[in-house]
Amino acid sequence: MIVNIKDILIDARKNNYGVGAFNVSDYSTVEAVCLAAEKTGCPVMIQIGDWIAPNAAETVMGAMSMFDYKNLMSFIKYRAEVSPIPIGIHLDHCNTYEGCLRGIQHGATSVMIDVSMESFEDNIALTKKVVEACKELDVSVEAEIGHVGGHFGTTEGAAYTTPESAKEFFAQTGVDFLAVAIGTVHGEYTSEPQLQYDLIAELRDAIPSPLVMHGGSGLSPEQYGRCVENGITKINFATYAWREAARAAKEVGNADGDKAIYPAMNGAAIQAMADYLAKHIEYFKTKSVK
Ligand code: 13P
Repeated sequence: MIVNIKDILIDARKNNYGVGAFNVSDYSTVEAVCLAAEKTGCPVMIQIGDWIAPNAAETVMGAMSMFDYKNLMSFIKYRAEVSPIPIGIHLDHCNTYEGCLRGIQHGATSVMIDVSMESFEDNIALTKKVVEACKELDVSVEAEIGHVGGHFGTTEGAAYTTPESAKEFFAQTGVDFLAVAIGTVHGEYTSEPQLQYDLIAELRDAIPSPLVMHGGSGLSPEQYGRCVENGITKINFATYAWREAARAAKEVGNADGDKAIYPAMNGAAIQAMADYLAKHIEYFKTKSVK
């Protein structure tokens, strides 16, 4: 069933467990996320980036047409609706007000307005505007301060979040969830991440909103455990799950050689990604609704 995940994240914050927010790129990845939720009985979030934004062509995903966006959002809504497990639909990394409204219009129950690369004042101003609009619509809002690096293979602009800035930002915007930079990076880890567990705890104590970890795939079970214990609630997760799906598809493709057929490769990818996510949902200690 489709839910605004806010109540679940508030419960997660109170009871020290994490909730996976898994990025999808197409119909198969949506299916994998839902299968993982159903296998574990645990709530999840399906996340989709704002790929029809004017700058989307520069992203690793490439731009989507409005037609593709609408169709994928329709499938996400359908698939989440028929699931017995609570599923939030989240618009990830959107840097415009219009993009947030577009996401909501097509079914998002929460949105991330990401102005973390602009000035603190501009970040506050735009986040406030989105929070105002979303209040009326029962949609939750995530923003980011500090900056989690790693987009498109660069750590340029990466900066840890300070508790003082979190306090100030929350006081000015009333944002529902706050993405914080605590040592993770988006994409592949090429060296051991320097996770700041004490900083996570200080941030949790500074504001009442659930904290979001970006760059959440690729950590160890112990690292997830410590992040969650110290106050991370929403775990954004993409690269390593997509890689697991690709690995399984390649395995079937290589084994079958010229006789390889798409349904077998796609089916293996979906199953492998679902199993991988289900294992991680356990690492996050998400509370089952079964
Ligand atoms: P990873 O691809 O590093 O898991 O990060 C996902 C993310 O933070 C999406 O917002």
